Amino acid sequence: MCGIVGFTGTIDAREFLLDGLSRLEYRGYDSAGIALVQSDEASELGIIRVKGKIADLREAVAESDLSGNCGIGHTRWATHGIPSEANAHPHRDCSGSIAVVHNGIIENYAQLRSELIAKGHEFLSQTDTEVVAHLIEELYSGDLLAAVRATTAQLSGSFALAVLHASYPDTIVVTRNDSPLVLGSYENGALVASDIPAIIEYTRDVIYIGDRDMAVLHSDGTIDCYDATGVAFAPKTHHVQWDLESAQRGGYPDFMLKEINEQPRVIRDTLAGRFDSATGELVFDELPLTAEELAAIDRIYIVACGTSYHAGLIGKSIIEAWARVPVEVEVASEFRYRNPIITPGTLVLAITQSGETADTLEAVRLARKAGAHVIAMTNVVGSRITQEAQTVLYIKANLEIAVAATKSFLAQVALLTLLALHIAQQRGMLSKEQVSEIYAEMQMLPEQIEWILANSDQIERCAQECVDATTALFIGRGVGATTCFEGALKLKEISYLHAEAFPAGEIKHGPIALIDTEKGTPVIAVATQSMTREKTLSNIEEVLARGAKVVAIATLGDERIHEMTNLVITIPPISEFLSPITASVPLQLFARAIAIARGCDVDQPRNLAKSVTVE
Ligand code: AGP
Repeated sequence: MCGIVGFTGTIDAREFLLDGLSRLEYRGYDSAGIALVQSDEASELGIIRVKGKIADLREAVAESDLSGNCGIGHTRWATHGIPSEANAHPHRDCSGSIAVVHNGIIENYAQLRSELIAKGHEFLSQTDTEVVAHLIEELYSGDLLAAVRATTAQLSGSFALAVLHASYPDTIVVTRNDSPLVLGSYENGALVASDIPAIIEYTRDVIYIGDRDMAVLHSDGTIDCYDATGVAFAPKTHHVQWDLESAQRGGYPDFMLKEINEQPRVIRDTLAGRFDSATGELVFDELPLTAEELAAIDRIYIVACGTSYHAGLIGKSIIEAWARVPVEVEVASEFRYRNPIITPGTLVLAITQSGETADTLEAVRLARKAGAHVIAMTNVVGSRITQEAQTVLYIKANLEIAVAATKSFLAQVALLTLLALHIAQQRGMLSKEQVSEIYAEMQMLPEQIEWILANSDQIERCAQECVDATTALFIGRGVGATTCFEGALKLKEISYLHAEAFPAGEIKHGPIALIDTEKGTPVIAVATQSMTREKTLSNIEEVLARGAKVVAIATLGDERIHEMTNLVITIPPISEFLSPITASVPLQLFARAIAIARGCDVDQPRNLAKSVTVE
């Protein structure tokens, strides 16, 4: 989605704004711009906008004489109006002295726009955002904070806003509703951004404000916060542990490959401190639920979107198998629009890497309203979901930049596996011996992933065989099937090659018709050790008989699979419920290799955004 940055301080704002926007490129965008209070005391703000990339914006800024110590910037991902310079942010009022950047959607913009046009305001863009600048102009009578407050009182929908006024040369006013904003300060001034990566180089102590709260950033680094009624409050500061290296490629050609390679460390961090060998029990200090309360749970809903939803599907299989509690996994955008059955025995687990996905947040609000205990599983400290759920479990993925989730997915699956063990143990379904045996096996995962990464040439070779395909099918059984759902999503989103995943047993109920004998449609089969491996091998025979080109993910030493296909990707042996953590890695690398061969930008796939903060 769109990105926002803002800086007011004692040094030139341009570098922070341009660097900050570069760090938000991963969110996805089609145009960009900045506005500055100009140093020459001009009554109009200086604004430069471009359709295209930050590099184009940087060039346009370098060619201009625009400078100043107080400014705002934006990367736009089009919702209302085509990608164009006119629709790029910042948007201004009629006088040119007010500029606004906005993330979100103003739902009542059409009505506001007509009213403002009737009052003589002239609109220059097709965006919903421009009404905000004109409304502030309309309501301004010498107090910017009051004008912004009066403006937002008229807005419905979601917004994160940063506002600049030429008469306030060292001040930025910000506010938000259902769209993220993060604030901070350091020795040279105060900062605002839609996302932590833009400011992490300057500070790790960040402030989040609540819905319709407002903040005023001053050039001396102070930040004044007010609630929606104008009452001042002292904000809480959150310390972000992420390291700066996460925001840099560190010698890798793209963030996706860097993040795939970080996975052994991510799994080590996820496992660290989670098992107490003295008691033989899992350690989940964040979870306030007692053994009795966990035993009383009669249903778990997992709600999530996209990759996080796929992690939830894997979690379901493992929780049900070990803890014997029924688990329903629901796409958050569906869950929130129906009337889910929530009883006192219902536990809701919301999974979201960003902690800002609009549909997941709404699902959480619905569940809480219905009286459920909600656990949030997220990667982002202080994110919106951490303020909505009663309990927060942090995955240890560190900052994830590539739009396609990789390390956060593995971290989610690993944490879900540990959570399943914990619930099972507390409910008396697994003994201490069983738990410590599984935990010990989990400790092999980082090394196994390292082995897969070191042997990635086999993945590359298989991927090259599939580069020219027009469709690819993924098949597997049990957790192998859900691993396939994620593998197909990765391939679709970064290579634009159409891909679908099916439980292998379902293929002959329709999807097998997609196999083109002439072209040899690729079928990627997860055929690792499992209860149903023999059945999967039969399904592989079926698709081979119809001319499919089978790429098999198989266990090292599995000779039979080599007799069936010469496109085999081997992974080290691991038990079935832990296999999604290793089997997903070759699928990530497979998708990336195809995307690179097809000339795609793997970090910023077209039309996609890292966090989907609009419905
Ligand atoms: C994953 O590769 C996608 N970018 C997308 O499906 C993502 O997982 C989804 O939007 C959910 O995001 P969240 O985990 O931040 O809620």
